[in-house]
Amino acid sequence: MKQDVARILFSEKEIEEKVIALGNQITKEYKGKELVLIGVLKGANIFMSDLMRKIDMPITIDFMAVSSYGSSTTSSGVVKILKDLDNSIEDKHVIIIEDIIDTGLTLHYLCENLLSRNPKSLKICTLLDKPERRKVELKVDYKGYDIPDEFIIGYGIDYAEKYRNLPYVATLKRAVYEK
Ligand code: PRP
Ligand code: MN
Ligand code: MG
Repeated sequence: MKQDVARILFSEKEIEEKVIALGNQITKEYKGKELVLIGVLKGANIFMSDLMRKIDMPITIDFMAVSSYGSSTTSSGVVKILKDLDNSIEDKHVIIIEDIIDTGLTLHYLCENLLSRNPKSLKICTLLDKPERRKVELKVDYKGYDIPDEFIIGYGIDYAEKYRNLPYVATLKRAVYEK
């Protein structure tokens, strides 16, 4: 697994500090409000787990599983709901938690879908963003880092379903996806 890493972009420690800062910001802005975090499986799994523990107020959580990539390295643009929310978000303040935004197609679809369920507010929080890859416009409310257009793995992010359990964010060696 580690031999396929080209370069570590963000270490465990750096990510932890960023997650603390995001958690503090969210706590400040939502204190006293009914907040639901929606994690987008599978990629956001780790970011969601870490971030929610840095939010110092009562919250609830829910998950959606969507997939646009399958095992390919580029987005097909087709978003499939594999698992829907368990609970209603009507009149709730909602933040969607993502690991990475690439073309924006996944979140564009999710926002439209969730807005139709009448939340009180809907915001987006992502650890990583590749703005140069964007195909649809998105307002990103909370962001960890902008990153260049390289193939990213780790901290929940996969290549062909592997590498999600790397504790840091890294780039994948070219040889791995070109073979
Ligand atoms: C990845 C990533 C985001 C999405 C971003 O998920 O976790 O959800 O793609 O790409 P986009 O902005 O171009 O839509 P993926 O579909 O690979 O599913 P996964 O989270 O289960 O890996
Ligand atoms: Mn995903
Ligand atoms: Mg994926």
